Amino acid sequence: MSKLKIENIVKSFGDVTVLKGLDLIVEQGEMICLIGASGSGKSTLLRSINLLEPIDDGAIWLDGDDISLPGLDPQPVRQKIGIVFQSYNLFPHMSAVENVMLAPRRIHKKSREALRPEIEQLFEKFGLADRMDHYPDQLSGGQQQRVAIVRALAMKPEIMLFDEVTSALDPELVAEVLDVLRTLKAQNMTMILATHEMGFAREAADRVCILHEGEIIEEGKPEEIFSNPKHPRSQAFLKSVL
Ligand SMILES: Nc1ncnc2c1ncn2[C@@H]1O[C@H](COP(=O)(O)OP(=O)(O)OP(=O)(O)O)[C@@H](O)[C@H]1O
Ligand SMILES: [Mg+2]
Repeated sequence: MSKLKIENIVKSFGDVTVLKGLDLIVEQGEMICLIGASGSGKSTLLRSINLLEPIDDGAIWLDGDDISLPGLDPQPVRQKIGIVFQSYNLFPHMSAVENVMLAPRRIHKKSREALRPEIEQLFEKFGLADRMDHYPDQLSGGQQQRVAIVRALAMKPEIMLFDEVTSALDPELVAEVLDVLRTLKAQNMTMILATHEMGFAREAADRVCILHEGEIIEEGKPEEIFSNPKHPRSQAFLKSVL
């Protein structure tokens, strides 16, 4: 059974349809990179998977369960599917570790003391052991983004969605966040990324999907997509970014 199956999803805002019957199947441990022009629907797709946007038609299946049924409580699904955005949205009045503990304390009803060992391990794994008690404004952008990723991982998600997580970072800080993604991939995390980092997509993705006006017009292994795109729109997009 596939980890995630997206079938014919449709999403409109007003009379503008931004996802036009999109299909995508993701296997356990796969890293999928979504690329495509601004406005092609990458963020809307990720937000739909995480149930932040209700879809108008189609279905989304997680481990064989339809998570897109109307009226379903989104909370348990969101615990299984973590999402990290371009803007890290850490609470400025809380230290890094407090930011990370907030959701597990509330939702898993665990105490700080009970959480501390596993949270410390996460900070250590991502090179943040000495930054746990820092406040966001005492951290670099790259460190803040890594804390935001640790915050999502603290909920023990089964799938991670990343929406342009390096776009707000200075170029010298991008690499440290991409390293985090490589580490997660090495641990067999299932991941879907919307990214403009073509070099990273080429090197790290198992599969690259090109979105155009709310549809996946082409998908395949990165070496095929980047060296021999078949769809004229894919060719035009890649020519404009490479
Ligand atoms: N809340 C909303 N209300 C109205 N229109 C929206 C909303 N969110 C997205 N859209 C529209 O949906 C389309 C797809 O947007 P989306 O943000 O998914 O694109 P994207 O591929 O992520 O682009 P980018 O590369 O700029 O992040 C765009 O035309 C956008 O204006
Ligand atoms: Mg976007």
